[in-house]
Amino acid sequence: MKAELNQRLTQVGPGTPGGELLRRYWQPVALLDEFDPALDPRMAVRTVKPVRLLGQNLVLFRDAQGQFGLLDRDCPHRGADLAFGRNEGDGLRCPFHGWKFDTSGQCIETPAEPAGSTLCTRIRQRSYPLQTASGVLFAWLGPESQTPPPLPALDCFAAPASHTFAFKGLWHCNWLQSFEVGIDPAHASYLHRFFNDASLEDSYGKQFRGASAGDVGGERWPMTRVMREFGQPQISFEATPYGLQLTALRPMTEELTHVRITNAVFPQTFVIPLSETMTITQMHVPVDDTHNYWYAFFTSFDGPVDKEAMRNQRLPAVTLPDYIPKSGRQNHWGFNPEEQQTRTYLGMGEDDINVHDQWACESMGAIQDRTREHLGTTDRVIMANRRLLQQAIDTVEQGGTPPGIADAALHSAISGPDTVDGIAPAKDWQAWWQEGVRAKRENAPWVGRDVMAESK
Ligand code: FES
Ligand SMILES: [Fe+2]
Repeated sequence: MKAELNQRLTQVGPGTPGGELLRRYWQPVALLDEFDPALDPRMAVRTVKPVRLLGQNLVLFRDAQGQFGLLDRDCPHRGADLAFGRNEGDGLRCPFHGWKFDTSGQCIETPAEPAGSTLCTRIRQRSYPLQTASGVLFAWLGPESQTPPPLPALDCFAAPASHTFAFKGLWHCNWLQSFEVGIDPAHASYLHRFFNDASLEDSYGKQFRGASAGDVGGERWPMTRVMREFGQPQISFEATPYGLQLTALRPMTEELTHVRITNAVFPQTFVIPLSETMTITQMHVPVDDTHNYWYAFFTSFDGPVDKEAMRNQRLPAVTLPDYIPKSGRQNHWGFNPEEQQTRTYLGMGEDDINVHDQWACESMGAIQDRTREHLGTTDRVIMANRRLLQQAIDTVEQGGTPPGIADAALHSAISGPDTVDGIAPAKDWQAWWQEGVRAKRENAPWVGRDVMAESK
């Protein structure tokens, strides 16, 4: 890849072609949990958070009515930082000269101006549309003259609050190389390889620790065993209204093949199976060119999600309030050569496989130098996705409609998407997995109900 193209695909700031594309898609801006005083005691005093998104500095606050506002951080008077503002319940007041703004960005007071001044009626700070879905606040940073599309009916949004759980973490690198890990089905056999399988009983909420669907002669197989023993996946993909559907086949015997169906929801989201009844929808949200947050939505097609268990599994790996991982470049991501020799392929722990992906992304450098890479057969989805990204950037630059979930006209064709990790009859694997997901949806207590409409 040419250096110019790498830059075009990875830049996210205002006015950059890539940044303009990403601004057409709803972006997660905070977990609702970040406003919970139990997790961030500062929230008991003051519900204000500085936020950086797509290279822009913003301030997110909640007023006394529970309404959220997302504003540019530089006060429109003389530029002081509104993240230090006084949250007075009906608006956020700049402590420099007391100008006050409501959640829409409208200036409602300029107390130092002479009595009778109407200056504030003519001042509005740029504010951005917000909406909440599945425990996460989403913002839309597209052009003020345009109407944002609705959120698509992906499973992670269609499921009721009881059946989803969201968490996040900061990675110190560009969003695209992080996303490209999620659409790389080959790495699971190497980066996440465990030399021993853990008990299937203790697999709740843990990626790759559950069993693949189906069986081998009546025996259940942990995903880790399939991944370890079958390391040459045959990877293919199909274009869909939301992006790409990925198939990775690992032929096991004459009669059996492992099939893993995952999805790339253009441009930043992948949807993969966690277990037979749970999916992970993960979005890679640029903070700026060299940082991104992953936001993961766990969606259950079975009973309610045990949010407390899921949160407690993940909280020890990060420091609050900013969800910064405790492992990183500063401590070699916890690398342990003894573990690498005896227990795992990578040597960065067995409990939190997120660290494995974090190492893969961050160790490439802040922005991967794609002029020096050599892609192989297993990288075909990554190549296809880059072509889509390039085309979409061109489309938006030329004034066209961005593809996938940013195009409201496509929403009636977008749902799911389905995921599978299972051991199928080699000759009939397609019908097998499609029947599997049909049964999973039929049994899900919420599928087919319009939860989004009910909650309004
Ligand atoms: S700079 Fe904010 S009120 Fe003056
Ligand atoms: Fe991974």
